[in-house]
Amino acid sequence: MPTDAQGNALTIASEEAARAFDHVIEGFLKYRFDTGVRLKSLLTLDPSAPLAQAMAGLFAMLAYDSRLLPRAEAAAAKAEALGPNPREAAHIAALRAWAGGAPERALGIWEGILAEHPRDILAFRLHHFTAFWMGASGRMLGQAEQAMRHWSGDLPGFGSVLACHCFASEECGFYGIAEQSGRAAVAMDPGDLWATHGVAHVLEMQGRRGEGIAFLSAGEPHWEGGNNLMHHLWWHQAMFHIERAEFGQVLALYDRRFRNPDSPVTQAQPDLYIDTQNAASMLWRLERQGVPVGDRWTELADKAEARIGDTLSAFTLPHWMMALAATGRESAAARLLQSVEDAARGNTMHAAILRDAALPACRAALAHRRGRFAEAVAALRPALGVMYRLGGSHAQQDVLEQLFLDSAMKAGLEADARLLLERVAGRHPVPPERRIGYAEAARALVY
Ligand SMILES: [Fe+2]
Repeated sequence: MPTDAQGNALTIASEEAARAFDHVIEGFLKYRFDTGVRLKSLLTLDPSAPLAQAMAGLFAMLAYDSRLLPRAEAAAAKAEALGPNPREAAHIAALRAWAGGAPERALGIWEGILAEHPRDILAFRLHHFTAFWMGASGRMLGQAEQAMRHWSGDLPGFGSVLACHCFASEECGFYGIAEQSGRAAVAMDPGDLWATHGVAHVLEMQGRRGEGIAFLSAGEPHWEGGNNLMHHLWWHQAMFHIERAEFGQVLALYDRRFRNPDSPVTQAQPDLYIDTQNAASMLWRLERQGVPVGDRWTELADKAEARIGDTLSAFTLPHWMMALAATGRESAAARLLQSVEDAARGNTMHAAILRDAALPACRAALAHRRGRFAEAVAALRPALGVMYRLGGSHAQQDVLEQLFLDSAMKAGLEADARLLLERVAGRHPVPPERRIGYAEAARALVY
């Protein structure tokens, strides 16, 4: 029976198809732009492989786009009918759970697969991704630690295990070990975008800004053929520059690298969740520093408006609200709020995240833009302790912390501003005085 490159049994027609399967997995692990094309070739070669069919659905789910849910459901149905082995059937069950609105159940299924098949890189990588977007960094790290025990350098995919170990460690605050794993993966493959991303996070969290700029600039020649993650890497580059008050550089990166409509490589103004987050959070940070951003909010607001009602990506929702509020689209903002309120009424874990974290963040983003600062503080204060559940890294969640701090300062609510400063001082290795979004408040207040 054919196996994948990591030795897991595959229900697949031929050795040739099994190698095509590995090629798809490699594209997925390395954030290659052509991963979808690779999958199409595999499905043409062998339409009867259950896991290949399931992958079409799993990859659709990666976009956090409710318009793709029917495609994911159809892929699961097709895969189920093809006689999967038990491991493949578990993947299909995870797809069903995820597409059915229960990503936490999918996480449990992938953990079950990994307990039995610790070198199932597809389960490992999907778990890493989904746990991250549920704010479950401890579970990310747990699986990464387990994978490290079961992998060796000669197994294909080891670089990706190291890359995930890097990012999970970084999000859990273990910066030394994170950097070690990330740099080892970059040494194995300088084009490993996820490993590069993990190292960039370490440098961001440790305030090593010049080093971060040099690291990403040196990596760029190896990124050709990457997907949208490249935009996010350029966003990280802009994060280093904004900390150094190099706003011209930030805008240049925005226009030419991560929000560039003429990008020859990837469509760079899509409404993919990560692209929206990159763009909205950077415009918001720039405006807070007094930098005029022109009409850049408009295309973002158009995309946000078109997606009202889609609440799959909880962390994207406040970013959409930032764009709608910045462009004065009152009725669209009201409709977005209403759609989140409606979705938050369910009794799923996702509904609870929408209710406890996404809704307060959306309300705060709108109130802040309208100058109703005390209202923004009141909305976001109860969510401060749970907003990590929206998903997103510490570097990304920072924009919500800044939103709270700015609102508190402008409303004259000093106790709330102090509370926020105390929070970031306790959780971030760089003191607020050395961070551009916090320094002014930190100098003004004793916290
Ligand atoms: Fe990041």
